[in-house]
Amino acid sequence: MAILITGGAGFLGSHLAKRLIDAQKEVVIFDKNPKKLHLKEASEKVTLIKGDVANLRALEKVCEDYQFEAVFHLAALLPPNTEEDPYKAFKVNVEGTLNILTIAEKYNIKNVIYPSSATVFGPDRTPPFTEEDLRDPWTFYSSYKICTEIIGSIYSKKFQLNFRAVRFPVVVGPGRNPFLGITKYPTQMIEEAVKGKPYVAEVAPDTRVPIIFVDDAVQILINLWRSKDIQFEIVNVDGIWVTAQEIAEGIKKIIPTAEITFKPAENEHVQQILSGVQKHKQEGVATFRGERMLEEILNEYISRRKEEKF
Ligand SMILES: NC(=O)c1ccc[n+]([C@@H]2O[C@H](COP(=O)([O-])OP(=O)(O)OC[C@H]3O[C@@H](n4cnc5c(N)ncnc54)[C@H](O)[C@@H]3O)[C@@H](O)[C@H]2O)c1
Repeated sequence: MAILITGGAGFLGSHLAKRLIDAQKEVVIFDKNPKKLHLKEASEKVTLIKGDVANLRALEKVCEDYQFEAVFHLAALLPPNTEEDPYKAFKVNVEGTLNILTIAEKYNIKNVIYPSSATVFGPDRTPPFTEEDLRDPWTFYSSYKICTEIIGSIYSKKFQLNFRAVRFPVVVGPGRNPFLGITKYPTQMIEEAVKGKPYVAEVAPDTRVPIIFVDDAVQILINLWRSKDIQFEIVNVDGIWVTAQEIAEGIKKIIPTAEITFKPAENEHVQQILSGVQKHKQEGVATFRGERMLEEILNEYISRRKEEKF
């Protein structure tokens, strides 16, 4: 049986595809822009299908051609695109997810793994949060994440699907588009330093956000699929909490010529996301925490970028 990755040509999807291929899995990527796939060695071993998750018929056709044991549903629009065109984003992010759940039920795909976002808690509240805490987002993007988490939970109860939504903090790693997402500055700092360009971060140096390395995020997606005994649909993921200053200093240890300065924007707090987990529902059954600390994240990221693996 194969594994379907929607949005598999994107940042998280490419890394996930590589990991699954290394584990000898048959991987089918369904993406509106499949040519984006970063991992050259992966592109020869996956089946790439160009298509739109908002098109139910196109998804049905794929399910008629392949038999899937799991779908990792990663196709989505990210900010600022979601905020600039909320109607289009609703179609892709909400209707697209409903379509995935529909095909999962119709074609007996038992596992649907879905990255939600720690931004569901909003920028105005104090972490840490439990999964049930009040969600108070400020963006269309995050409101659509909440909506789809709920739709997934309903499918899970109604049709005995294993729907698992994982609320990631800021995922960093090679291959991430530095212009997408609510919290962009960690990626932009690293990318500009690698290119030898000066960078002005529009945040205060003491701004703290939780980050997770992409390899750890991928491992968590796989754990969620593999852990048969997890009894819940939605899980928070904790990252390591780092200030913008700490990231800049870490980069300078590896690239001493990096020029990073700070000029906080007026709406700086919108750049911050809040996450954090006090207690997992099933602590001990699985780990939902990134393992890599800042130094390791920066070393891995920068060395892979320099080797031009992306
Ligand atoms: N990167 C992060 O920090 C982060 C954090 C939390 C959650 N997430 C979630 O993880 C998922 C993947 O994010 P990413 O960072 O890899 O983003 P990305 O933009 O790199 O990847 C998204 C992929 O979806 C594809 N896509 C967009 N619209 C589509 C459509 N209509 N039909 C089919 N494919 C379509 C894009 O072509 C792209 O390849 C998203 O759901 C995102 O919300 C990401």
